[in-house]
Amino acid sequence: MKVTIIGTGYVGLTTALVLSYLNHDVSAVDKDINKLNLLQEGNCPIHEPYLQEFLDEVGYNIRFTLDIADVVPDSDLVLIAVGTPPKKSGEADTSHVETAAKEVAEVCHPDKHYTLVIKSTVPIGTNRRVAEVINDVFSQRQVKGDVSVASNPEFLQEGLALHGALYPDRIVVGANTENALNDLRRLYQPILEQTFDSPTLLPRPESYHLPPMMTTDPNSAEMIKYAANTFLALKISFINEIAGLCEEVRADVTEVARGIGLDSRIGHRFLRAGLGWGGSCYPKDTAALLGVATENDYEMPITEAARKVNFKQRKHIVDKLREVLKTLEGKTIGILGLSFKPNTDDVREAPSLDIIRQLVDEGAVVRAHDPVAIPNAKNAFSDHSIHFIPDVYQLPMNTDAIVLVTEWDLYHKLDLRRLAKLMKTPILIDGRNVYSPQDVINAGIHYIGIGR
Ligand code: UGA
Repeated sequence: MKVTIIGTGYVGLTTALVLSYLNHDVSAVDKDINKLNLLQEGNCPIHEPYLQEFLDEVGYNIRFTLDIADVVPDSDLVLIAVGTPPKKSGEADTSHVETAAKEVAEVCHPDKHYTLVIKSTVPIGTNRRVAEVINDVFSQRQVKGDVSVASNPEFLQEGLALHGALYPDRIVVGANTENALNDLRRLYQPILEQTFDSPTLLPRPESYHLPPMMTTDPNSAEMIKYAANTFLALKISFINEIAGLCEEVRADVTEVARGIGLDSRIGHRFLRAGLGWGGSCYPKDTAALLGVATENDYEMPITEAARKVNFKQRKHIVDKLREVLKTLEGKTIGILGLSFKPNTDDVREAPSLDIIRQLVDEGAVVRAHDPVAIPNAKNAFSDHSIHFIPDVYQLPMNTDAIVLVTEWDLYHKLDLRRLAKLMKTPILIDGRNVYSPQDVINAGIHYIGIGR
């Protein structure tokens, strides 16, 4: 099928590469000329496992362009994957989605059928608004036009984007017309039936089952995306709340998570207590859902509490540091990990940023390491007093304590004895509970975890 994808961020670029890998004829549009130049030269603009390798393999088949008019008229499907950043009120700003839809309507053939698919995360009801935008353009053009709007929320996780796109748990489609449903079924057929050859780098998991394509109305599809993210966010906040109480009663939250996770109704995943969630999704999507609730005069105390617990974790860790060091003024603190999670260079809403800001405010000197996110973290701070250290074994020099913020693999394998020798005072706050406390203690380091 001929497909145009508007937006080449995490979702747009991953989708473009996967659809091209599945032999669709793909064009990708973006307004950022620098990003397009990079892509046209075969360079991936984001750090995401195997994306560069996929770009090397199929990128030359994709037309990367600035101009919607170049590629939309001949397409069968147009996928919108542009950003929906938060407004001051917390609600998601859908203006980029609406602009993209308007531009599509301006250039599409009046007699050809198109399915316009919203992949961006958008507030409930956006599909209707987008259909209105398109109809307004058709009225101005004095043509009837034939565009079906469908909602197809994206569930990919950063760091696992390609894996999630090739082997999804489910595909959700919200559409009111048979045309749109058929187009999306055809688009995803190779994934639904797993008829493609698995890439060597990303083999199909042995236990993987064919994913269902769930079809529903567009409003419910839009709500599914917010409800899924909010549920995962509150699962993490729940275990963090339990972790706080574990500290009071001397229980170990990792044991508690293991015990409750064995109940198949609960499950093990997303029960890792620690510094909580960051990134471009949960903070924004939980706020957007609350925005929708407020607009409808509806209370969502559980979602509000999940946010409160989450952001408290970042303060809690600084409290632990202050408690063990007596004061933070003049103390040197090492930060292991800046990205909001491992395997990405994304620092949006990362716990590291809040923690570093608090430490600097209290007069501490901060030394920070990350395997890939240092450039993005530097951009996030106007304050030049933070020392970014590219070599992890240089980080401990003169530190009064180290805080592990992001659980990169590299940190699991650190030589803890070497670390201990280099620190001024050997104290480690394990913000993701990755170490065995006994291993850290055996290395001569004072260990403080979360909820253990
Ligand atoms: C999340 C969802 O998992 C995706 O399904 C969704 O498509 C995406 O948002 C989105 O809306 O675009 P992502 O934000 O990439 O994906 O990352 P997650 O793996 O879900 O992790 C989010 C945060 O939760 C990270 O900061 C991670 O460290 C934290 N986390 C995760 C925990 O603190 N504990 C856990 O047990 C799991």
